[in-house]
Amino acid sequence: MLSPGNGDGPCIPRPFSIYDRTAADRVTFLIQVHGPGTRALAAIEEGGAYTCTMPLGQGFQVAPRERPVVMVAGGVGSAPFLLYARARTAAGAGDSTWMLYGARTADRLYDRELFAGAGARLLCASQDGGAEHRGTVIDLLRDGLDAGRLPQHALFAACGPEGLLHAFAEFARTRNLHAELSLETYMGCGWGGCNACPVPTEPNGPLGSWPWAKTCTQGPVFDLRTIRF
Ligand SMILES: Cc1cc2nc3c(=O)[nH]c(=O)nc-3n(C[C@H](O)[C@H](O)[C@H](O)COP(=O)(O)OP(=O)(O)OC[C@H]3O[C@@H](n4cnc5c(N)ncnc54)[C@H](O)[C@@H]3O)c2cc1C
Ligand code: FES
Repeated sequence: MLSPGNGDGPCIPRPFSIYDRTAADRVTFLIQVHGPGTRALAAIEEGGAYTCTMPLGQGFQVAPRERPVVMVAGGVGSAPFLLYARARTAAGAGDSTWMLYGARTADRLYDRELFAGAGARLLCASQDGGAEHRGTVIDLLRDGLDAGRLPQHALFAACGPEGLLHAFAEFARTRNLHAELSLETYMGCGWGGCNACPVPTEPNGPLGSWPWAKTCTQGPVFDLRTIRF
């Protein structure tokens, strides 16, 4: 949860994924400017202070080395996958890790060279035809599975705007894929105190009988089978 350290901008911090770790004591964030919270963060000058509470929440499952992983990202939804891809590569599993990266326009496929250097197999798509593949990231996923280039038994991990997540969830359910999603709900506190972030759960599923889960503490990453999305 991030906010400017000088009190500028909204008093409620905004949630972000940790993007990169550029030194032992330094992490970076990939932030798309939307409204007042992100505008205030973008206005911090180099060397300026910000308030950060981290780490919070539950991330993607760390799949065992022998299990293939297919990451599905849209726009700044790529943020949680850079370190994940590097960790898979360091564990010797780069060849069985795919990063499918999509955006409406190719200029929103951020830091492609960083991802290409992370050791996973990178496939990019944009709807304007500016990337190697024209279409959506779901088209990439469907084509890859239909052609046998992507393994059906992989763990499929998705992060991106809500429209992408809904399309991904529908596709994963139809194809019976083991899928995890990082949800982009609004958040207030980030640690379970304010109830700003509920998501309905599957009744009597692995999350228990309570019909709601808090995205900040029980997520933001959920197994698709556990939530009603
Ligand atoms: C767990 C998590 C991780 C995230 N990681 C990143 C990240 O790494 N990089 C990044 O750029 N963003 C990330 N986001 C989204 C980011 O938190 C929002 O874009 C930010 O809170 C917007 O704040 P704002 O005040 O600038 O805009 P607001 O005034 O709150 O909103 C401006 C516009 O954006 C829309 N909007 C705002 N927040 C969301 C949202 N969560 N989902 C859908 N639409 C929204 C609003 O409807 C409105 O139209 C993440 C969100 C979550 C929950
Ligand atoms: S953000 Fe406050 S309870 Fe989840």
